[in-house]
Amino acid sequence: MKTVYVDALGTSVSRIGFGCASLGGRIGARAGIEALERAYEAGITWYDVAPSYGDGTAESICGQFASRRRGSVHICTKVGMRPSAAGATIRALKPMARACLAMFPGMKSRLSAVKPKPFKVPLSAELIRTSLEESLRRLRTDYVDVLALHRPTREEVVREDIIRTVERIVQDGKALAISIAGNDVAGIDGLNDSLPYRLVQTANNPLEPNLLRSGHFARNRTFVTYGSFSCVGELASRIGARQQLRKELHELGYRGDLTEIAAAFAVDYALAANPSGVALFSMFQQEHLAFNLRRLAQLPMFQPLNRIAAELASDPQQTQRMVDSSNGLRVGGC
Ligand SMILES: NC(=O)c1ccc[n+]([C@@H]2O[C@H](COP(=O)([O-])OP(=O)(O)OC[C@H]3O[C@@H](n4cnc5c(N)ncnc54)[C@H](OP(=O)(O)O)[C@@H]3O)[C@@H](O)[C@H]2O)c1
Repeated sequence: MKTVYVDALGTSVSRIGFGCASLGGRIGARAGIEALERAYEAGITWYDVAPSYGDGTAESICGQFASRRRGSVHICTKVGMRPSAAGATIRALKPMARACLAMFPGMKSRLSAVKPKPFKVPLSAELIRTSLEESLRRLRTDYVDVLALHRPTREEVVREDIIRTVERIVQDGKALAISIAGNDVAGIDGLNDSLPYRLVQTANNPLEPNLLRSGHFARNRTFVTYGSFSCVGELASRIGARQQLRKELHELGYRGDLTEIAAAFAVDYALAANPSGVALFSMFQQEHLAFNLRRLAQLPMFQPLNRIAAELASDPQQTQRMVDSSNGLRVGGC
């Protein structure tokens, strides 16, 4: 497994991290632990979790897995999002929902549309301390490697009481480092070096290249990225619309149908764009773990990927749609 040295932790971690948002939700405890163990055997040492994941059960399940090998895994948990209040009902209905999904996978989007979502709670010193204590209990450990503020507001990130609280947590050894985790890079853009957030977790993919946009605050910070597969459908259709790019991707070794090409490109982009950080993937299916490991082993250079990503980001279909609609207007006008 390729590793990367994380300054804030004073140690090396695997370049691929395991995202546990579905642990205990879409993925049951037994299958989840099997997947975490499979990843650990393959050399993955970074596990990303939160109190809100898996309808509030992901940390406990992760704890069952991690407590047996605490010295050799790195755990990032968070504070600031709560599981939906309907957690107990959801938990009771989960086995039935999983069985339905196994028989009728097409129901996935309908089920997730009606499922109550985790919600943000305002950060305070008290909330951070108690949330961390509860996380440590569920994770069966006395420290986490990283404690992340989960989708903090700009105001929370710079607030004195919050800064003092997280610094105290590090001094007490309950977290080795503090991070900001959320999608709103614009909101945390301009973080100055004196702030205690040594890691930044953000979405990054060819259509949402947040790391490129964040260059000026990247110094001294380690990035942890997610969001690779959310763009695969759109990437596939954009690649399909551009013969020249498809040819270039073929020359770079990308083969298969459009979705296969887009998935391989998305994983390569996530890894190559963040050479000194960690790329998170959800990979409970054995073949997804194997796929990501294969991509890491034969990772291409970032430059050609970035050039193709930049072209793909300039949506030709949207341009075409704009041309079509302006043609339509002209015809109508005539
Ligand atoms: N800080 C935040 O606000 C935040 C937000 C979102 C996510 N995250 C973290 O990032 C982690 C990853 O989340 P994500 O949204 O980026 O998920 P992702 O890695 O894009 O995965 C999404 C889906 O794609 C599937 N998949 C994985 N590899 C695949 C492949 N090779 N081909 C086709 N499908 C594949 C996964 O399946 P399986 O899992 O079933 O294998 C999963 O269902 C989360 O678990 C969480 O830890 C953090």
